[in-house]
Amino acid sequence: ELGEFDHYMQKEIFEQPQALSNTLEMLSGAGQLQPGIFGAEAETIFQHVDSVLIIACGTSSYAGMTAKYWIEQVAGIPCNVEIASEYRYRQSVANPRQLVVVISQSGETADTLAALHYAKEKGHTYTLAICNVPESAIVRETALRFITRAGPEIGVASTKAFTTQLSALFLLTLLLAKIKSNLPQEDEKAYLDELRHLPVAVEKVLALEPNIKIWAQYFANKQHALFLGRGRHYPIAQEGALKLKEISYIHAEAYPAGELKHGPLALVDQEMPVVVIAPNDELLEKLKSNMQEVSARGGQLYVFADGDSSVKNSAGMQVMQMPEHYGLLSPVLHVVALQLLAYHVALVKGTDVDKPRNLAKSVTVE
Ligand code: M6R
Repeated sequence: ELGEFDHYMQKEIFEQPQALSNTLEMLSGAGQLQPGIFGAEAETIFQHVDSVLIIACGTSSYAGMTAKYWIEQVAGIPCNVEIASEYRYRQSVANPRQLVVVISQSGETADTLAALHYAKEKGHTYTLAICNVPESAIVRETALRFITRAGPEIGVASTKAFTTQLSALFLLTLLLAKIKSNLPQEDEKAYLDELRHLPVAVEKVLALEPNIKIWAQYFANKQHALFLGRGRHYPIAQEGALKLKEISYIHAEAYPAGELKHGPLALVDQEMPVVVIAPNDELLEKLKSNMQEVSARGGQLYVFADGDSSVKNSAGMQVMQMPEHYGLLSPVLHVVALQLLAYHVALVKGTDVDKPRNLAKSVTVE
C-alpha cells in the first residue's frame, strides 16, 4: 500500500498535488465560481453574513489562521479564529450574522464538535463545515459544507488535509469577496488560474526533498528550534513548529518575527537553529532585520526564500531557494517544505513517524 514510500506521512506529503486537484476539480471547466460548491443555501447565507468566525484544533486551526489573512484582505470582512477548546468554555458575544466555519480533517474532534454545538446554542445558524470525511459527525450538523478530497489520511501528522483545507478556504475567500466586496472579474480569474496551477507549483517544492534531507542533519541533534514568519506565513511557522515537535520530539516554537525582541531573542545562541519563512513579499525587508538580530547573537538561520529573492547564503545563514513566489497562496508552498523538513528530521532521529508517541489520529475525547 505504501508503494515507493517508507511511511504514510511521506506518501501523503507526495499525494498533495493530486489531493489539491481533486479538491479543486470544480475549477476544471471555464465557468465562474459558484457558491453552490458550499451547499444549496450558500448564496443566500453568504449575502447575509457580515463577518467570519473560524473554530478548529491543531493543524486545522492554523489553516483557519491563514485564511483570516486572506478573508480580511480579499473579501474585506472581519474574521476571527478560535481554538475550539477555548471557545467552547468562554463566554463570548454571539453575532448571528457571523458565518461560523468549523474546520476538521476527521470531522470527529470532540472539542470542535462541542464548539459547534455551543455556537448553535448561542444562536448561530450560519454554519459551515470544511471537512475531509463526508459522513462524519461535524458535517451532519452544519447548514453548509465543503468536503476536501485529500483521501484517507493515515499519518497522525496532518499534511494533505491541511493543504486541501487551505485550498477550500481560498475558494471561500473568493466567494465572499465576490458577494461582499464585488471582486473584479479579472481578479477572480487571476486567482482561479493560480489555484488551478497550484498542484504543479507544489510538485516543484516536492522536488526539493533531497536538499531538505541534507538540512535535516543539522536539526536532529538539537534540543530546540525556533520558527519565524510574518503575516500569512506566521501560521505556517506555527504549523512547521507543530510538525517538528509532533514527530521528531524536538521542542519547537513559532513566533511572529516582529516579536523576537519582546522575549524569544533571549533564547538565541549557537545551539538554536532558527527557521525563517521568508517569501519574497511585502514583509521581506522587515523580516531581514529580524534575521540580522538572530545572526548578531550567533543563531543559525535556515531560511526558506522564494522567487527572485535577495536573501542569499552567508555566514550563519543557509538559504533554501523555493521555486517561485506564489503571492497569496504562497503559504501552501512553504508549508510543504516544512512538512518535508519535519519528516526528514524524524527519520534521522528514528522516531515512529506515522504514530508519534502519546498522540491519536483523531481526538474524540476532550
Ligand atoms: O481531525 P481534525 O482536523 O479536527 O484534528 C485536529 C487536530 O487534532 C490535528 O490537526 C492535529 O493537530 C494533528 N495531529 C497535527 O498534525
